[in-house]
Amino acid sequence: MNLYFRCYSFINNVTDSMKKLKSIDLFAGVGGMRLSLNKALKKMGLEDNCKLYSEINLYCRQTYDANFPDTPLIKDIKSIQRKDIRNKIPDHDILLAGFPCQPFSKAGISNRNFLKRPHGFNDKSQGNLFFYILEIINKKKPKAFLLENVQHLQNYDNGNALKLILGSLRKNYYVPEPEILDAKDFGLAQQRRRIFIVGFLKKNANFIYPKPTYKNTKVADFLDCHPKKKYIISDLLWESHQKRRKRNEMAGKGFGYKMTYPADRFTRTISSRYFKDGGECLVYRGKNNNPRMLSPREIFRLQGFPESFKIPVSNTQAYQQAGNAVPISVVEKICINIIDYLLDKEKNKTLKLKAG
Ligand SMILES: C[S@@+](CC[C@H](N)C(=O)[O-])C[C@H]1O[C@@H](n2cnc3c(N)ncnc32)[C@H](O)[C@@H]1O
Repeated sequence: MNLYFRCYSFINNVTDSMKKLKSIDLFAGVGGMRLSLNKALKKMGLEDNCKLYSEINLYCRQTYDANFPDTPLIKDIKSIQRKDIRNKIPDHDILLAGFPCQPFSKAGISNRNFLKRPHGFNDKSQGNLFFYILEIINKKKPKAFLLENVQHLQNYDNGNALKLILGSLRKNYYVPEPEILDAKDFGLAQQRRRIFIVGFLKKNANFIYPKPTYKNTKVADFLDCHPKKKYIISDLLWESHQKRRKRNEMAGKGFGYKMTYPADRFTRTISSRYFKDGGECLVYRGKNNNPRMLSPREIFRLQGFPESFKIPVSNTQAYQQAGNAVPISVVEKICINIIDYLLDKEKNKTLKLKAG
């Protein structure tokens, strides 16, 4: 039987400018996109060269700066006027942007409906942020971009929002059909489907999104060995979870809290609201024991962040940051394919070695 394996031989082939691919990280949160890109670059013998990040939230910036010190910052991307984009946004090869998803997410829409606030692109504070990204892309012309959002963006307004996004990006870029990828198929024990949109200034081939890599994950592998007692939920909260579940069942409205067992393959999607009551994932602690919430570190782990990732903020902030982040192993794989594509796969990519 012939065995083939792939081996990257970029370093000698790529030009100096490509060895240090320049990037910018918009709506950066705690830097999940950048961390993923860095991992991909490292695997391919290339270096991180992030020229700028933009993040409006002070606590996210504290975490970002602790992990990626000395990166130039623009706090509010809206502070950059159209006429200043050329000067104020540095040149870059790859633009990363996980733009705010609440205006398009199911929970965000029902919240906004309840508050009688507009959603989608009509949400003036967050819904139109895509157009800031579009301006930057069209003015700075990076070689590639990677955008991330909730899966529901696909269905929002009968697909018209996504159509508008793709139509406007495709005026100057090759943008293959976006793909929905799930963290649980990429080695993380969390179901988390996200839509990814990549684009390239030049079309040299068809871009291929990564294929699922894992089938067998186990929640237990992502849990703390010695969870702190403070994560066990109180009798009062446990009672209210159970009551709500009964109410929901009687009204035929879904299930309420979700009990997660360490042997489960994956958890539900952990959202940025997890800190409120942990309903998306309560960890089973045996019959007659109150379940516990995940710790912020466990959620970061379920998102693929390494143990070395610093969490310098309060638990409430950390829960929100972890729940908002991108799943690292998914984005890393997409970044590998983006870099592959940029490096012109025919010339530089694969060295097949015959073994056996
Ligand atoms: C979905 S989160 C991105 C999370 C990120 N991908 C990660 O892995 O951590 C969107 C982020 O955009 C930030 N944001 C919202 N409006 C912004 C603005 N006008 N300028 C810069 N950042 C903004 C939010 O504070 C939030 O952290």
